[in-house]
Amino acid sequence: MRLRRFPEAIEGFAFLDSPSDAVSKVVGRAVPAGPFKDALSGTWLGHALHPLLTDLPIGFWTSAWMLDIVGGKRSAPAAQKLVALGIVTAIPTAASGASDWADTAGGEKRVGLVHGAANSVALAAFVASYLHRRRGNRAKGIAWGWLGAAAATAGGHLGGHLIEALGVGVDNTVFEAGPQDWLDVGATTEAVEGSPHLVDAGGVPVLVVRDGLRLVAVADRCTHRGGPLHEGPVEGGCVTCPWHGSVFRLEDGEVERGPAALPQPKYEARERDGRIEVRRFALAQG
Ligand code: FES
Repeated sequence: MRLRRFPEAIEGFAFLDSPSDAVSKVVGRAVPAGPFKDALSGTWLGHALHPLLTDLPIGFWTSAWMLDIVGGKRSAPAAQKLVALGIVTAIPTAASGASDWADTAGGEKRVGLVHGAANSVALAAFVASYLHRRRGNRAKGIAWGWLGAAAATAGGHLGGHLIEALGVGVDNTVFEAGPQDWLDVGATTEAVEGSPHLVDAGGVPVLVVRDGLRLVAVADRCTHRGGPLHEGPVEGGCVTCPWHGSVFRLEDGEVERGPAALPQPKYEARERDGRIEVRRFALAQG
């Protein structure tokens, strides 16, 4: 049996939509758009935070599990400390994951809900494991640890599916090459001061905005979850994504406000004989 069939089946479970919506509302209220959500998203880091944090509880719990297997009784205090460290680090990990999950939809949201549920079971099992170890009941502590490890493994598998198969947390522009040479994308009269203008740059959607005598341009598909930036407002040299409110500078594509962690690819734009021309900035520099 191929492992991917399990998460693929979950993608089609429409009955998960109702609990997903209910939990999503709670998460949205607990983590509204703003500095706290940006902190959990990794906007300050320039990288999604959740995938980095997951290494901590997984690493601590896996290490405890290994000590239980090969370390013998002498390693019981160390294993107990590792279980505790896993519990402590699981809390910010869960918070960042829940915040990211609230911005997903459809099959991603269903898989994400089960991913979170599996990891919640893992956390509860390791809390029980820790309590038993503290009371001196090592055998029960180890048994709960095994249950926690199994749940965390299932949760980890679903987390991998979310990233690798569904692209959650992946830069939505990563496969957009954009034209290396100047490309005619329309008449200059179509670019009106301060108004977002969508152009097709060889199959890549690009947002062009007139800024006085010059034109500025960035990739139109939002790096966060692919929102259409040309449908968002342009103000103060920035564009706001209509989906989750990330704000990007038009000058260089940098993130002014999250939840996006990655900047928009920058394009160069110019006017030639009444026509707009664009080319990919980074490739042009090469
Ligand atoms: S798609 Fe989420 S902020 Fe743009």
